[in-house]
Amino acid sequence: MMQTQLQQGGSAPVISFDRVTLAFGDRTVINELSLDVAGGQIVCIIGPSGCGKTTALRMAGGLIRPNGGSVRLLGETLTAPRRDVAIVFQDYGKALLPWRTAAANVSLALEAAGVPRSERPARIRLLLAKVGLTGHEDKYPTEMSGGMQQRIQIARCLAQEPAVLLMDEPFGALDAMTRQGLQDEMLSIVAETGTTVFFVTHDLEEAVYLGDRVIGLLANPGRIGIDLSVDLPRPRNQLETREMPEFLRLRRQLFDFIEKAEG
Ligand SMILES: Nc1ncnc2c1ncn2[C@@H]1O[C@H](COP(=O)(O)OP(=O)(O)O)[C@@H](O)[C@H]1O
Ligand SMILES: [Mg+2]
Repeated sequence: MMQTQLQQGGSAPVISFDRVTLAFGDRTVINELSLDVAGGQIVCIIGPSGCGKTTALRMAGGLIRPNGGSVRLLGETLTAPRRDVAIVFQDYGKALLPWRTAAANVSLALEAAGVPRSERPARIRLLLAKVGLTGHEDKYPTEMSGGMQQRIQIARCLAQEPAVLLMDEPFGALDAMTRQGLQDEMLSIVAETGTTVFFVTHDLEEAVYLGDRVIGLLANPGRIGIDLSVDLPRPRNQLETREMPEFLRLRRQLFDFIEKAEG
């Protein structure tokens, strides 16, 4: 499969921001942002509220076009959303169709991709199993917890077999235990598929725990203020990883960065 070949393309950038500038009206929100995200990496973006994290993610998703510079995906300039780029939003309540069951919500992505009806049930079962929702196929979103609803959204994104997963504070609305469970599920799914992940969060520890790299943006206008490689072994472990000296060192660096950025 072509997608698999591209995913295995080693360190060739999958997402590339080349001197990207974006303005809303006369206000420049992002200024000359350049950033290459290597294939198979998890890149976490942090930064003070309003610095342009969501805006950068929306540009990577082809939802907004820059006023200057270019955003390229697998070498092609993005001009519109693509099926091989999936976006997980924080607000799962809005992302899911309330009149469709969990299975039918996942089916949406398969329908959009033109997967034949006869192949859908087996694919849906597999996708829901991947996110730990076996046995909940026929439930409606409102019958499920926030964590379960977010799992449906993730399963629906995985149904697109994306080369790139864009996640905008996906676990921000969940309680701490649920959040940690979903972090680990996400890591194991991504390790299996080789998907490149662009992950926006305001949780600095989450950024270090998940990332191969953490980029901190400064505000007004949005630009890169810090770019750290995360040299922590995988698979990560909620207790062990978070106690490692390297984890604590990176966490400290990011807290110092944010304190200055907000100050
Ligand atoms: N559609 C829009 N129109 C006008 N201003 C916007 C729009 N979207 C975002 N902004 C502004 O751009 C800045 C960056 O927003 P955003 O990317 O959402 O920040 P973050 O996700 O880092 O909190 C903010 O000041 C926000 O108010
Ligand atoms: Mg945001």
